[in-house]
Amino acid sequence: MNATHSELVVVTGASTGIGRATAQRLATDGFHVLAGVRSEAAAAEVKAGRIEPVLLDITDEDQVAALADTVRADRRPLRAVVNNAGIAVNAPIEALPLAEWRRQFDVSVFGQVAVIQAFMPALLRSKGRVVNIGSTGGKVAMPSFGAYSGAKFAMEAISDSLRREVEPFGVTVAVVIPGAIRTKLAERGNATGERLIAGMTLEQRARYAGLAKAFRATTESWGSNGLDASLVADVVSKAIRARKPRTRYTVGRDAAVMTRLTHLVSDRLLDRMVRHTMGL
Ligand SMILES: NC(=O)c1ccc[n+]([C@@H]2O[C@H](COP(=O)([O-])OP(=O)(O)OC[C@H]3O[C@@H](n4cnc5c(N)ncnc54)[C@H](OP(=O)(O)O)[C@@H]3O)[C@@H](O)[C@H]2O)c1
Repeated sequence: MNATHSELVVVTGASTGIGRATAQRLATDGFHVLAGVRSEAAAAEVKAGRIEPVLLDITDEDQVAALADTVRADRRPLRAVVNNAGIAVNAPIEALPLAEWRRQFDVSVFGQVAVIQAFMPALLRSKGRVVNIGSTGGKVAMPSFGAYSGAKFAMEAISDSLRREVEPFGVTVAVVIPGAIRTKLAERGNATGERLIAGMTLEQRARYAGLAKAFRATTESWGSNGLDASLVADVVSKAIRARKPRTRYTVGRDAAVMTRLTHLVSDRLLDRMVRHTMGL
């Protein structure tokens, strides 16, 4: 499918990382990109050529509705919505306060659903596409990743339901599943992790000291050895422009392996593999 600047795409979480790279890639493809950011400073940074920054905190229903109104009033069809915005709230399940679970799900599940609902009328009109950015965490749940994986597993299911609901009406749904990518996610997640550890009881801190160390080492290695975000952007572009898009795309060898693993090995073997990978 040929891109044209007479078509719109919305990218959430476009200030940094995968969202920023995706906005740049889709603008290069020729789309007019409405790039969701949460501050004036980020808006000034991402604004360029066909990239138009828009204020969009996906947990703010008024901001989501306002952008949907803007899109409705625009004569250009909405080619795609890229649900990318995300956070990582990581700690052992027993020690993660419910407010933090809610924060993870507010952004990574309910925010995504709010965006899908708000833009669906425009997507139905244009027979457009939804691209949800998943994660290997949505396929394999590592210790300390209960909330993040819970949200990403939920989005896998929601993507399947949505696809089965709207494809008869011409709207396609794809999940792009990156492996480790070099972005601010790990650094931001680690800062959250440190804060959460500080809030644990002494007993919990002692119980999970080894896990906390392994978690830090794992996420730091993703931060430094991960792939470039532009590789994810290339795949998102493919999902939007392919004549017959796939339902799922992986990015990186780790993602390709992990998405298949759960079908191939038993839970117990996977437990051992996860512990080994994290150095536990
Ligand atoms: N990096 C990886 O290894 C990896 C792997 C698999 C999947 N992913 C997924 O890729 C997506 C992007 O993450 P990233 O790695 O590019 O991390 P990132 O650099 O931290 O980017 C996250 C983006 O989400 C935005 N965001 C956070 N909360 C938001 C909210 N309430 N409303 C709107 N935007 C919000 C951030 O905006 P601010 O700058 O304003 O905070 C930022 O633009 C996430 O869904 C993540 O789960 C990442």
